[in-house]
Amino acid sequence: MNTPVEGFSKLTKTQKIDWIAINCTKDPEATKQLLKQYWNTDPRVQQLHDEFIENTVSNYYLPFAIAPNFKINDKLYAIPMAIEESSVVAAASKAAKFWLERGGFKAEIIGTEKVGQVHFIYKGDNQKLFRFFDSAKPELIKSVSSITQSMEKRGGGINNIELRDLSNKVDGYHQLHCTFETLDAMGANFINSCLEQFARTFKEQALLFDAFSEEEKNIEVVMSILSNYVPDCLVRAEVSCSISDLGNADMPSKDFAEKFVRAVNIAKVEPYRAVTHNKGIMNGIDAVVLATGNDFRAIEAGVHAYAAKDGQYSSLTHAKIEDGIFKFWIEVPLALGTVGGLTRLHPMVKLALEILQNPSAKELMQIVAVAGLAQNFAAVRSLITTGIQKGHMKMHLLNMLNQLGATEAEKQKLVTYFKDQTVTNASVKEALESLKSK
Ligand code: MEV
Repeated sequence: MNTPVEGFSKLTKTQKIDWIAINCTKDPEATKQLLKQYWNTDPRVQQLHDEFIENTVSNYYLPFAIAPNFKINDKLYAIPMAIEESSVVAAASKAAKFWLERGGFKAEIIGTEKVGQVHFIYKGDNQKLFRFFDSAKPELIKSVSSITQSMEKRGGGINNIELRDLSNKVDGYHQLHCTFETLDAMGANFINSCLEQFARTFKEQALLFDAFSEEEKNIEVVMSILSNYVPDCLVRAEVSCSISDLGNADMPSKDFAEKFVRAVNIAKVEPYRAVTHNKGIMNGIDAVVLATGNDFRAIEAGVHAYAAKDGQYSSLTHAKIEDGIFKFWIEVPLALGTVGGLTRLHPMVKLALEILQNPSAKELMQIVAVAGLAQNFAAVRSLITTGIQKGHMKMHLLNMLNQLGATEAEKQKLVTYFKDQTVTNASVKEALESLKSK
């Protein structure tokens, strides 16, 4: 492909498919067939997907799986997960079962505050600006009343607007740092609409503020946008049990507990390990976030920023042993929604929420944090005992066999065979060849 395309978005879906197939792939007919093969058989469902984004030509599937037996605050959940990585759901299910027999997970909401900012430049007298802000603040709040009305009726709305001076960092830089309560909505549209109106009103009011010079009246709004850093939209989940109940077959439980705490402590102080440790946590978190139609990029960005809040990237989980009790917990910021966005539109998202017993946003925060904690427990347990590859390669076995073109009968035989054999690329290839030659 060496010529740019004009007006691609104006083409029909068929024309888009033709264009991409002819210009970007070796076998246009096969490409067209594949793209169409992934269309939903129900045209209404397909149209929904077509309209989620621009230039849709097909759908991209991820497996949708269930990790059952999660007991959270004494309530049982089967957790839906959308993820491609072989071992994640198996690991989550195993951890859920393990903790089910030990009292389950406890989770609590620490805060639900969302943040948005109007970033602006003002190079005049700061005292005048702070005086102006105090006088304009009620106007700012009044100007968004049509947006906040229904949220306020349900108990949410604007928590606060604060003027912050950051001109020591960028010349003239100030901000309206705004905090919101958006209840069961993730709240991005609500927050951004409020912020854009704050910006307009702020500029208008500045023009009317007599104490400002002509130059000072000309406040430059750089941008108005929510922040995905939400350190006060925080949830904590934990498990605990007596060390003697840990009963790990691979090593004595006291050694296991101590090694586990050591492994978590390493992730606290060593960023190279912390990133991978937290990646494992995000295996669980993202899978539920995605299945429930939430914005996993927002969650990822906010969580990693939180992991670095003390100046060095560190573990999101913590573990300790106290008076013979092993305690393992996570504290994580999660701005999630169970209304709005995709929740009512995407049939699989609706189903995922139904499977979770239609949780509130707070309940979903707890479930997602638990999924992250469970995933981390499973990963660290494997790492400090058998090593990660044993379980991982077992789960990856079917992918390998599919790639090597194994038949259903061969897959069945080899899955049984590898129950007590080491799975490697070479050993799987060899076993399949030997089976085929029989
Ligand atoms: C793999 O997706 C995740 C792990 O690397 C996490 C960890 O090392 O803790 C197993």
